Order: sequence, then structure tokens, then C-alpha cells
Amino acid sequence: MEQQRYYIYTYGCQMNERDSEIMAGLLEEMGYVAASRPEEADVVIFNTCAIRERAEESVFGEIGRLKAVKEERPHMTIGLAGCMAQEPVTIERIRRHAPHVNFVFGTHNIHELPDILARVRDTDQLVVDVWKSGGDPELLEHLPSRRASGVKAWVNIIYGCDKYCTYCIVPYTRGRERSRRPEAILREVRQLAYQGYKEVTLLGQNVNAYGHDLPEKTDLADLLAAIQKVEGIRWIRYLTSHPWQFTDKLIDTVAENDKVCEHFHLPVQSGNNRILRKMNRHYTREYYLELVEKIRRRVPGASITTDIIVGFPGETEEEFQDTLRLVEEVQFDNAFTFIYSPRPGTPAALWLKKDPTPLEEKKERLQRLNELQYSIQRRNNQRLVGDEVEVLVEGPSKKDAQVYSARTRTHRLVLLPARPGMEGRFARVRITEAQTFYFKGEWLDQPAAAGRPALSLAHEG
Ligand code: 5AD
Ligand code: SF4
Repeated sequence: MEQQRYYIYTYGCQMNERDSEIMAGLLEEMGYVAASRPEEADVVIFNTCAIRERAEESVFGEIGRLKAVKEERPHMTIGLAGCMAQEPVTIERIRRHAPHVNFVFGTHNIHELPDILARVRDTDQLVVDVWKSGGDPELLEHLPSRRASGVKAWVNIIYGCDKYCTYCIVPYTRGRERSRRPEAILREVRQLAYQGYKEVTLLGQNVNAYGHDLPEKTDLADLLAAIQKVEGIRWIRYLTSHPWQFTDKLIDTVAENDKVCEHFHLPVQSGNNRILRKMNRHYTREYYLELVEKIRRRVPGASITTDIIVGFPGETEEEFQDTLRLVEEVQFDNAFTFIYSPRPGTPAALWLKKDPTPLEEKKERLQRLNELQYSIQRRNNQRLVGDEVEVLVEGPSKKDAQVYSARTRTHRLVLLPARPGMEGRFARVRITEAQTFYFKGEWLDQPAAAGRPALSLAHEG
């Protein structure tokens, strides 16, 4: 029999990227191999994101496109997973407008993928397997995984989010906060080190909530300090942290543990206190500015990046200008900026009905914010020209094989002339040019001793 192929579309955040790696691992364990294009696949999975409307629309656009492909290949199985699967409206929409989709499964039961595929084989009805709320994180231990990189690995530490920011769908799609046991995380990290991985990124919607739900008293700072001791791992990152409850202990831990990278991604969302309160963010502008100050004092050379929403329901021009002023004051190294997108079922979506600000004006606000942020980045990036920095080399860049991309500890992107053999190695480079979103650099010396080659299909546990 010819080998069956799979293709996974991944939308959204790093948690989804990680979930896709696990789905790929499960499929490969079942004997599937990766297809390079969806048209050649026997199983196609859409691992979706629900954070903004646009993400959802692009998923349905692509599902629609596959309809004609499936007519040519009737045995093709199509499934929808991820955050959209957790929204009841999605299932309705699939039944009505996308009958060529065979199955829907949620974010809490990825481990059931093999069973679901078996059920799909026996029926021509839509198979729906969505758990309303998160199960025991134990269920997700010991799953196979096909990691996207052999050098950098994502490691889940906490699932879900309890913060209920009023604009956000995540607490509804990903459920309550559930921390993995520290022993399980450390075992995974040690195994990654053994396999040759050099960098780990600890993942969670809210990593600084880590541990509060565990029987033992532990937190993200303790976890970082424990991973610091794992031989072979050189750089440690974590995503995403909430400015609220970003403790002094955590800042000290980053300062004192040399493997923990000095990059702080701290989504501010707005620079206005009334809006922050309406968003249910649990901090004020003043608190945020003080946090940034504290980090810069304690961790020299730290980069600070953020997420910002403009046009939250009821945001006035004055309130928006508070965000501009905060951006000017903080001087972020990078900012991901979004127009507020109403998410059905969230409190803020109801407030949009009474919002007098038209979308056009919100688009204009986004543009003003971006212009300001880009000019800040251009100016500040210039100051790094001439610096010597250590980078982890990723390999050929997406656009041009003659150019290698690399990241600094502060997560700055550096483009270098291609140098085969440097993939996955650390190198010293000099920054020669600064742009708004990246730097150019030149190689300074030879690589450190090569690590063991990474295994691609890894069984954890
Ligand atoms: N509309 C626009 N942006 C949103 N984000 C989350 N929910 C929404 C929404 N409804 C943004 C926030 C968050 C980032 C991941 O996405 O800025 O930090
Ligand atoms: Fe959404 Fe807020 Fe939770 Fe982040 S902290 S996932 S923005 S609810």
C-alpha cells in the first residue's frame, strides 16, 4: 500500500505551533509521512486560531479552496483543530458551508487524534470531538512529537488562561490554567539537551501564573533556575508573560541566571488607565512604566517588546494618545499592534455596539501607532551598529538561501552571508547595518564545538 501523507496548517501562536508538532508526531507514529503540499496529502488538518476575526476568515478561505482538491481526491480527510474548534459557531458553520470537512477536534484532546481518524473512516458524518474544558495535563505527557527545529524547542509549562481580559477569547477556548508538574518539564528539557537542542522556550498563555495550581509551592522563577542547571541547554526563553504578577523574584532570576535570555515580552495593550480597567488587565500605566524601569535597572541590555490593541470599544482619541505617549516613553524594541476585533461571547464584544468610533478611524490610529513605533525602532536599532553579539544561527532565511538568519539573546533578527555548516550553532558576529525589523551582520570567529545532531522524531517521557 502506498504511504499515507499528512499536511498540517498552523495558524496563530506558539502554543499552536507546539500542538501541531504533537499532532505530527501522532500521525507519524501511525505511519503517515509529511506531504510538502496539502494537495498531495491524505489527511489535512487545520490547526486554527480564534484570537481575531481575520485569522478565522483565512481558515475558511483555505478550507473552501480545498473543496475542489477533494473532489479530485475523494479519500482526502480534512479536519479542523485548535481554538476555532472550541467555538460552537464553527461547527455550525462547517455543517452549513463546508460539508467536505470530516472532523473537528478541540484543544484539550489532541491525544485522541488516532481514535478520531479511526472513527472518521467508519462514517460519512462529521465527527466532532471537542472537550469543553481542559483535562488533566498528565494526559498530554508521553506523546510523540515531530519538532519543527532540531536546535530550538518549545516546551509547554502551563495550559489555559484564567485572566479573562474582556476582549480575549483564549480563556474560553483553552480553559482554566493547568500547570505541568516541574519533574515532567525538567525530564523533557533534559531529554531535549541530550538530543542536541540548545534553546528552549517555555510556553504558556500566561507563564508567570505557572505553579499556582500545583500541590508543591513553585513558580516560574524556580523553574527557570532549575532549567539553568541542565547541561547542554544554552539559552532559555519564556512566552507570554503578563505584566501583572511579574514579580521582583522573577526579574532577579532572569538577572542571576545567565542562560535565561534578557528579552521581556510584556503585552501592555493600552497606555490609558480607564481602558486598562475596562480590559480587566489588573495594572495601571504607572505600574507598567515602573516595571519597565525596574527591569532596565536590574537587567542591563534587556530588550522589551509588547502587544498593543487600538480601538478597544469606547477608546477615545485622548485615550489613544495615552498609548502613543506610553510607547514614546518606553521605547519598545518591537511591538505587535492590532485593531480590536470583536470575539463572540466576550464582554467587550457587547460594548462595541455602543462604540462611536468608526473602523476607518481605528485603522488610522493603528497607522499612527505603527509609524511612531517604526521610527523609534529605526532610531534605537542604529545604536547597535558596530556591536559584537552572540547569535544562534537558524540557517537559510525564508526569502533567500544566500542569507542566513540568526537571533541574538534579545531576540533580534540578524541576517548574515550564508555559511553552510553553521546551522544550529552559536557564533559571534558584528552588527553592520540596522533596519526597522532586522539587522545585518558579519561573522567574527569560528563556531564553538558542534553539538550532537538532533533527532527529529522524539519520544518524550
Ligand atoms: N482583538 C485584537 N487583538 C487581540 N488580542 C487578543 N485578543 C484580541 C482581540 N479581540 C491581541 C492582544 C494579545 C495578542 C496575542 O493578541 O494584544 O496580547
Ligand atoms: Fe487573553 Fe488576557 Fe489570557 Fe492573554 S492574559 S490569553 S490576553 S485573557
